[in-house]
Amino acid sequence: MDNNKPIGIFDSGIGGTSIWAEIHQLLPDEKTIYLADSKNAPYGQKSKAEIIALSCKNTEFLLNMDCKLIVVACNTATTNAIQELRAKYNVPFIGIEPAIKPAATHSKTQTIGILATQGTLNSELFNKNVEKFHNTKIVEQVGHGLVQLIEKGEINSPEMTKLLRSYLNPMIEANIDYLVLGCSHYPYLIPQIKKILPEHIHIIDSGEAVARQTQNVLKEKVGLSNIKNREPLFYTNSDPKVLSEILGNKYEVIEKDF
Ligand code: DGL
Repeated sequence: MDNNKPIGIFDSGIGGTSIWAEIHQLLPDEKTIYLADSKNAPYGQKSKAEIIALSCKNTEFLLNMDCKLIVVACNTATTNAIQELRAKYNVPFIGIEPAIKPAATHSKTQTIGILATQGTLNSELFNKNVEKFHNTKIVEQVGHGLVQLIEKGEINSPEMTKLLRSYLNPMIEANIDYLVLGCSHYPYLIPQIKKILPEHIHIIDSGEAVARQTQNVLKEKVGLSNIKNREPLFYTNSDPKVLSEILGNKYEVIEKDF
């Protein structure tokens, strides 16, 4: 295994860049290739079979670019397809799942909220995980429409505020003290969400944990890069402008059909 091969990261769109940013911060010497399948976003309402097929397509693109490890930076793809990916391809996969454990462990009201896609909340993997926390009341909410707005670059639109209020107000009424963001697009909504939630409600996502897990797997199984400060590559199969903007217009985004 060549330690200096890139890490491949994919998502249904631009949201997984929140995970990419954590990985790039923790492991700046690793070459990263980010794939935004925005043409097929959102994955959240697709069938398991469709999500598996799209995840295989993205994985094959990244394996053709010689990636040494794949990060599935999408809760929907992880909870619906990671078992199939691991069975089919001979490369380590890191997935992202809603951080129920830290929220349930620390909750004082024993009530937590989770905002995620339909695909994640309906998945077997997610529901098996939820069963472990039967002492905690979990208020589940599908974030209908949120990913579509983020993909259009409308993070701060009045429509976004309206949707978020309608999803979060029932959770506030149910007395949650933790909100779990179960979709890699949602960390971009944290400033908006903070305006709606009372201060005592903690917001958690899984980005940092995924970066740490990536570091551990590289150390234990694959090997860390020994080349310094490597520039990431970004690919999208849709309008590159939105991806470029979410990255602060700091990186070149390559438009390619895949
Ligand atoms: N960013 C994705 C996730 O973490 C998927 C959103 C979607 O495409 O519906 O679930």
